[in-house]
Amino acid sequence: MAFIRAEIPRFARNDKMGCFLRSLQKPARDLRYDGDRSSCGKFARKEVRVMEIKKVGVVGCGLMGSGIAQVSATAGFDVTVLEVDQKYIDKGFQAIRKSLDKLAAKGAFADTPDAIVSRLKGTTRKEDLADCDFVVEAVIENVGEKRKTFAALDSVVKPSAIFASNTSSISITEIMTSTQRPSQFVGLHFFNPVPLMKLVEVARTIVTTDEAFETAFEFGKKLGKVPVRTSDKTGFIVNRLLVPYLLDAIRAFEEGVGSIADIDASMKLGCGYPMGPFTLLDFVGHDTTYYITQVMFDEFKEKRFASPSLLKRMVMAGWYGKKNGKGFYDWSNPEKPVPQDAALRGLAKQ
Ligand code: 3HC
Repeated sequence: MAFIRAEIPRFARNDKMGCFLRSLQKPARDLRYDGDRSSCGKFARKEVRVMEIKKVGVVGCGLMGSGIAQVSATAGFDVTVLEVDQKYIDKGFQAIRKSLDKLAAKGAFADTPDAIVSRLKGTTRKEDLADCDFVVEAVIENVGEKRKTFAALDSVVKPSAIFASNTSSISITEIMTSTQRPSQFVGLHFFNPVPLMKLVEVARTIVTTDEAFETAFEFGKKLGKVPVRTSDKTGFIVNRLLVPYLLDAIRAFEEGVGSIADIDASMKLGCGYPMGPFTLLDFVGHDTTYYITQVMFDEFKEKRFASPSLLKRMVMAGWYGKKNGKGFYDWSNPEKPVPQDAALRGLAKQ
């Protein structure tokens, strides 16, 4: 067990003053808590107990789950990954091996890939997560699935363990109520590709304890990430800003502002973004982005979060992006993706 000195927003304190301030809490104060600590000036210093984490559970071994498992094992944790079928574990572990080999060749860590992989265990039995100290869920972005997953885990994982969801848009509050441990529940939102992207958003709800939140924050640091504090507002920080940008790119294409390749090149070369919006959309997956738009639009009722009709039609047609080979680009040859302007405009191929 360790203690850290943390800045706790006064209204999140569990003493009488904290309760009183919470009862007075107005949206303006809440907004200031989200990020602007310096102008808020409402923080108290407090010793917070940080739980020791030895064993990590990861639920889901897809794009995000395998990445989270990889960085956790790389950081020295024993990791058990739960999937519904062994074939998904095999596929995810293959991707982990490939990524570790690449990173090892660049001298990214001291351990050998073999040593890191030896800390990873795959399972299809939820009971194997019983003694985990920290469980991160990265299953499909669907509130029903996430609630079902956590309700099942809650009955087998030890009561002291902290639960975290990697959701990018669903309310943590809504997911946590499927368990008997809402105060030990946080959002831990990683970015794709997890082994390379430095950020992790750590989100607390109005009932998350300081201990659970700070433990998750320290865990993010131990993974070599830069954690940022946020609260349970749909989309957190990044997707609040990123999603309208990506959707605007699709609308610009729909309106004929530019071709897929030109819009991508514009944002790369004109703004210094590492990849253009269509490449990024293909990386994230259109099924995921479409689901995010539904959740965000439902929350905010603002057009900037609404799905353009093209995105909806691509998802209905099964064009999910890079993961199944077809999106704004055809990824048959991943080294040379081919833009799909004609097909996406419903035109005959030239
Ligand atoms: N593991 C290990 N190495 C990897 C890797 C992985 N998973 N993925 C790529 N690499 C390696 C590549 O092999 C390459 O190695 P090399 O230099 O030896 O050839 C190196 O990393 C650089 O990759 P690339 O040359 O392909 O391309 P970039 O220099 O553009 O870097 C990138 C790749 C870091 C992914 C960069 O393009 C980038 O930052 N893109 C933006 C990603 C982004 O915005 N992610 C957030 C998505 S939003 C999200 O996840 C939230 C969700 O809720 C929607």
